[in-house]
Amino acid sequence: MKGVVFTEFLEMVEDKFSPEVADKIIEASHTETGGAYTSVGTYHHAELIEMVVNLSKISGLDSALLIKTFGEYLFSSFVKLYPEFFTNTTSCFPFLELIDNHVHCEVRKLYPDAELPTFKTHKPNNNTLVMTYHSERPFAPLAEGLICGAICYFQEKIDLKISDLSGGENTHVEFTLSAH
Ligand code: HEM
Repeated sequence: MKGVVFTEFLEMVEDKFSPEVADKIIEASHTETGGAYTSVGTYHHAELIEMVVNLSKISGLDSALLIKTFGEYLFSSFVKLYPEFFTNTTSCFPFLELIDNHVHCEVRKLYPDAELPTFKTHKPNNNTLVMTYHSERPFAPLAEGLICGAICYFQEKIDLKISDLSGGENTHVEFTLSAH
């Protein structure tokens, strides 16, 4: 997983908890580089999961909730770090429909070793977007947070329903967004 995800995660922990908590979770986790991540580096996604589990132990908050919260935070980071993806979009559904074929495609050009999920989308009607997340990694709660971040960014009234098709594994999940 690209280092940008790790650096943003630790920044969120410093902001929402404290720098001491960030140090504690790094110490408690088996990280290859002792928590020294660079945004262009590549690290094993299990390190992120271990840090989340340790943050959950320290904070008493559920791991899935922490990853979802991180997804929302990461979305605002992406808005700042990659403004080019936001210049031509004014609403949520068209933006999300382009994650697979445009945004993540461009990410792959920037970072050829990026490990990206796939999102199949369809619109059963004008007010509904169904996004199906598929990954070898269990980051559906991250996708949920990123989708919530997008809804918030575009300031639209959209309900989100989540259905795990991987029996709770978080690797194959259907997100149904209903605009009202
Ligand atoms: C401008 C917007 C976005 C940018 C620049 C972006 C970029 C990235 C990058 C750099 C990674 C890390 C790749 C790696 O680990 O090697 C990533 C992973 C991921 N992205 Fe995006 N992304 C964006 C929007 C979104 C949105 C809106 C969603 C949800 C619908 C999403 C879902 C995910 C998920 C779930 C992962 C974790 C990998 C996995 O699930 O296997 N991304 N993205």
